[in-house]
Amino acid sequence: MKTHLAIPRPLVTVVIAAIAVVLLLAPSAFAQAPADIQKAVDAAYAKYKDLKEGKNADYIPALAKVDPNLFGIAVVTADGKVYSAGDLKTEVSIQSISKVFTAAQVIQEQGLESIEKQIGVDATGARFNSIIAIEGVKMVAGAGAPEMNPLVNPGAISATSMVKGATADAVWSKIIGTHNDFAGRPLTVLQDVYKSESDSNQRNQAIGALMLAYGYIKSNWQQAVDLYTRQCSIGVNAKDLATMAATLAFGGKNPVTGKQVMNADKVPGVLAIMATAGLYDDSGKWLYRTGLPAKSGVGGGIIAVSPGRFGIAVIAPPLDDAGNSVKAQNAIADISNALGGNPYKPPAK
Ligand code: DON
Repeated sequence: MKTHLAIPRPLVTVVIAAIAVVLLLAPSAFAQAPADIQKAVDAAYAKYKDLKEGKNADYIPALAKVDPNLFGIAVVTADGKVYSAGDLKTEVSIQSISKVFTAAQVIQEQGLESIEKQIGVDATGARFNSIIAIEGVKMVAGAGAPEMNPLVNPGAISATSMVKGATADAVWSKIIGTHNDFAGRPLTVLQDVYKSESDSNQRNQAIGALMLAYGYIKSNWQQAVDLYTRQCSIGVNAKDLATMAATLAFGGKNPVTGKQVMNADKVPGVLAIMATAGLYDDSGKWLYRTGLPAKSGVGGGIIAVSPGRFGIAVIAPPLDDAGNSVKAQNAIADISNALGGNPYKPPAK
């Protein structure tokens, strides 16, 4: 015979309430209070707003015309909340930050080894558009993989050439689709930037041709250079970029839309190439200063990822000699420091 234990209703309510309180107070991977996050963002904005160091890129004429005072900061956390200061609306061209997401597309579609074998995942230590770096490339003994990186131009053009598709349009729809999924909204190409860069990208054409000559691009280098130029001209604002960074911070799941954009087990490979080459020849200095995998673009944006904690992005066009936004580097370093974002540091007790 079954016996039924009658649990008084008030007791059930008390137990449920107690569990809820315990869950709310449980330490999370990132236990910053919202007010502290906003305070760190506001402090960095106020500190760097009037900094005049650096200069807009001008080797792509359209970039020289962008307002040098544009300054926007956004941080996106696991719950999809956006903390921001400054200009969140104005779009700049994504430029080299797109290299991360096209590489992610190839990794997602063809596996981590595809990039490692055909391009390589080492730092080149050279400028982003170095031709000498292609000449100087060594084959890794035994492995047959070149020592390049998909986040500098030769490797990036090669990564674009690896995206599968029967036509240029088919390849493009995958590239823009991946960028849209990471940003959580449909993005468009800034046509003035695309035209300006297409008219002035002879150096990248030389890189594409040389990569074909040396067998690092298998075919159709002209299509790869054109699609690469198009992906660099995608318009993004600070919130888009921070959402893209946050999607990488949370295992490939966009915290704003909830969509799983890439497999979680493939994300660490993407973060690794950001750590080795995200800020070009200054990547080592950046990692030493912040510990954050990051990526810059000559449009003035930088994204950075604190895995499991937050994604952050800053847009501010004036660049330093290495091609990285001066204000963005300073603001991200300060905010991450205030929030305990360095993944090499144990969390504060
Ligand atoms: O290939 C180029 O020159 C540009 N489309 C992208 C360069 C870039 O953003 C380098 N960034 N720091």
